[in-house]
Amino acid sequence: MSWQRTGTKILDRYVLGARIGLGGTSEVYHAIDVVEHRPAAAKLLSPAFANNPRAVDLARREAWVISQMRHPTIPALYDHGDILLSEGVVVPCTIMELLTGVMLTDRLARGPLPWKEAATVAATVADALAVAHRRGIVHRDLTSGNVMITDHGIKIIDFGLADVLHREPPGTGRLVFRAHDRAVVPASCRPRLPADRGGSDDPLGRGEPADDVFSLGVLLYQMLTGRSPYPDGDADDLPAAARQRRAVPTPVFSVPGLPRPVADCCRDCMARLAADRPDSVTAALSLWAVLV
Ligand SMILES: Nc1ncnc2c1ncn2[C@@H]1O[C@H](COP(=O)(O)OP(=O)(O)O)[C@@H](O)[C@H]1O
Ligand SMILES: [Mg+2]
Repeated sequence: MSWQRTGTKILDRYVLGARIGLGGTSEVYHAIDVVEHRPAAAKLLSPAFANNPRAVDLARREAWVISQMRHPTIPALYDHGDILLSEGVVVPCTIMELLTGVMLTDRLARGPLPWKEAATVAATVADALAVAHRRGIVHRDLTSGNVMITDHGIKIIDFGLADVLHREPPGTGRLVFRAHDRAVVPASCRPRLPADRGGSDDPLGRGEPADDVFSLGVLLYQMLTGRSPYPDGDADDLPAAARQRRAVPTPVFSVPGLPRPVADCCRDCMARLAADRPDSVTAALSLWAVLV
């Protein structure tokens, strides 16, 4: 049951409507911006996590990460802030562009996608990853539950677990993990300094762009075949499983008409060693090259 009453006004201008989404730590509501007179989506951290500093930090950081993306495949950020719930509990809230469409998970429940459609979705996701990675952002939670097929194209949502990287001075071209860089993350969104990086309480461990590429390969495989590349695997745990070398993906077989470069891209993205995976730009280019 949703815990926000329809008609509640938050941040002085957004009137909440029906709940439209339920995530692991948050709820997403339809909202109307009564100042701009436009619809929006309001993502609120669930009250159960209000006293969890890491969940609060991640939720605040998500707003900042979305603001950095500014890309058609990512819902635009309209606003963000902390809101006081009636029980006296304070939770972070992100107001963003309202998307309407079908989650890729639901589409996959009906079976595999024709290869051209699968490759187009994957190429678009790779484009979004390329933008994120160039801006020092690693999504870390790229699953079919966080990809939406809308009338306005493919959209990637849920930067709730994203990591922020820092690029070394020009010339080195190497991305270095500095999730809590005070120069990069503004004070309002700055995560605390939890002992969570790679710690046992963080199932995803440290975020690397190559992990997003791995997840892209898994997504493409699922779209092409309608099933997971790991017969017994839980898709959500795959990046971590791959990092721990517990699972080896099977190559894509028997998809009628599938061009070799698409199968190769899928396999390469899921390479066990991160160094053997293409970067997101290369993956995007190789997929678009087949589609044009
Ligand atoms: N901008 C949006 N527009 C419309 N629906 C959204 C939007 N963002 C999220 N949702 C819906 O809310 C659900 C949960 O959002 P998500 O960001 O994935 O939350 P969590 O971080 O808790 O997993 C999504 O699966 C989707 O159905
Ligand atoms: Mg989600």
